[in-house]
Amino acid sequence: MAVEAKLEAWRARIDAFLDARLPPADEAPEALHAAMRYAVLGQGKRLRPLLVYAAAEAVAGPGPEPMAALDHAAAAIELVHAYSLVHDDLPAMDDDALRRGRPTVHIAFDEATAILAGDALQSAAFEVLAAAPAAPERVVAALRELARAAGASGMCGGQAIDMAMTGRMQSVDALAAMHRKKTGALIEAAVVMGGLLRGADEAQLVALRRIGTLLGLGFQIKDDLLDAEADSMTLGKTAGKDAAQGKSTYVTLLGLEGARGRLEAVASELDEALTLLAAQHQSGDAPATKDSGQALSDLAAMALRRSR
Ligand code: IPE
Ligand code: IPE
Ligand code: MG
Ligand code: MG
Ligand code: MG
Repeated sequence: MAVEAKLEAWRARIDAFLDARLPPADEAPEALHAAMRYAVLGQGKRLRPLLVYAAAEAVAGPGPEPMAALDHAAAAIELVHAYSLVHDDLPAMDDDALRRGRPTVHIAFDEATAILAGDALQSAAFEVLAAAPAAPERVVAALRELARAAGASGMCGGQAIDMAMTGRMQSVDALAAMHRKKTGALIEAAVVMGGLLRGADEAQLVALRRIGTLLGLGFQIKDDLLDAEADSMTLGKTAGKDAAQGKSTYVTLLGLEGARGRLEAVASELDEALTLLAAQHQSGDAPATKDSGQALSDLAAMALRRSR
């Protein structure tokens, strides 16, 4: 199957799975449930779920059966991501009114509902991952991976640094460390969980983690660039807000050219890491073919060249 069609099929698959897993909007407490559904089921790119499927395929080839466990991990990572966006947009954080092309959750509902919806989405993520139909040791490893990526040493830690650095400049190294946590950690977890659930060996997990780290860093550099270069209509979120709010980003620190240069450097390191994974012995659950890693490579390239 051509990669674009495959990604489209995975996208439809995870959308249906999320829809079925989220609590019904006509069941009490209705506003909370409706806000959770609103936050998740909008026009997201679903990069992180697609990375779960693509990373699994890269280490073990395509396989129909173990896909069920991947659905749970793919849903879990998107639920944590959606929660992070709801809270990122709150007045106490980035105070944003537009997300995925429509009003943010605290505008469409209210602030208390947005806080609670974020909290509940995070719990739902761990609930769905814990129920993954896979060997218990693989599920526990994936749970640990997601917990670490979401918490103080990952996304929340990075968001805390982001808030502390608003209105202040930091070194490029400190900025990279912040980006790795606030955005990189969840992207890395998506890639690693895909491998964990399909029986990747230690060497493959190391390779996947490096791919995830680089892609996560590159993804946020691109997000910084898009904030400065694109318009709100295309982005589906408010453009130009990083400079307006005094955010510490690659663009505010290095300028557009400097940020583009850093992105290119990360992209070529990422290409090397992908080549390394492809050269490794395939030892996952199913026999991999020579283009098992194609979806992961294409997805990574698309993520760094995206227009929204
Ligand atoms: C936006 O993530 C927030 C960042 C971590 C940069 P995405 O660009 O993946 O947002 P959606 O899911 O497509 O809305
Ligand atoms: C947010 O970074 C990263 C998260 C953990 C949500 P940004 O604040 O730059 O994300 P956007 O631009 O609002 O999507
Ligand atoms: Mg932010
Ligand atoms: Mg923001
Ligand atoms: Mg941004």
